[in-house]
Amino acid sequence: MEAKMTQTLILLFHPDLSRSRANAALARAAQAVPGTDVIDMQARFPAGLDMARDGKAEAARLIAAERLVLQFPLHWYAPPPLVQSWQATVLTRMMYLLPDSEGACLAGKPFRLAITTGGAADAYRNGGRNLFPIPEMLAPLRATANRCGLAWSNPFVLHDADSLSEEQLEAAARTYAADLVAWQAASLPVLAEA
Ligand SMILES: Cc1cc2nc3c(=O)[nH]c(=O)nc-3n(C[C@H](O)[C@H](O)[C@H](O)COP(=O)(O)O)c2cc1C
Repeated sequence: MEAKMTQTLILLFHPDLSRSRANAALARAAQAVPGTDVIDMQARFPAGLDMARDGKAEAARLIAAERLVLQFPLHWYAPPPLVQSWQATVLTRMMYLLPDSEGACLAGKPFRLAITTGGAADAYRNGGRNLFPIPEMLAPLRATANRCGLAWSNPFVLHDADSLSEEQLEAAARTYAADLVAWQAASLPVLAEA
């Protein structure tokens, strides 16, 4: 099955989007950005991904995207477990089983994380309430991106996600959409000179 071309692919990993405020608001705003596809991974893979059943199509989805976002709420200082299932299935296929025909297609592809946290920004600093800054919490994913040759950009981070008013949430969602537009413009595929 051929995946259709997507300019910006957002893989959204929320354990239950029907109970989400923050990620749901961000996803709605992102979906309205032209050329953006948001996939609710939990709805699509409620029991996790399976290499034989899902590997080929999900690899094709990544190859077809010009840039990739992984969006999720921080749970226990880490991504939700479905992210691990996706990595173990799709990235293992691409990088370990088919590095030349599939893995190489990730080289240079713009990549970023978009995360929400219940904790306040001030909690995420050395010696703060949550002990470590956000970049340290995200280090394994950054190393993974590096291993895959993905081009890392600074993550979009929404703190205090459980205590924002509707207005604050809508403002954050608008900022997210604007960020995506700016990132798209900054990472347009290079066209050959005429
Ligand atoms: C099981 C669980 C674990 C959580 N762990 C963290 C955490 O480690 N750090 C943090 O800042 N917030 C944590 N939170 C708060 C979530 O990050 C927050 O509820 C989420 O980002 C809000 O987004 P949503 O409205 O899309 O669910 C946790 C929430 C749950 C339910």
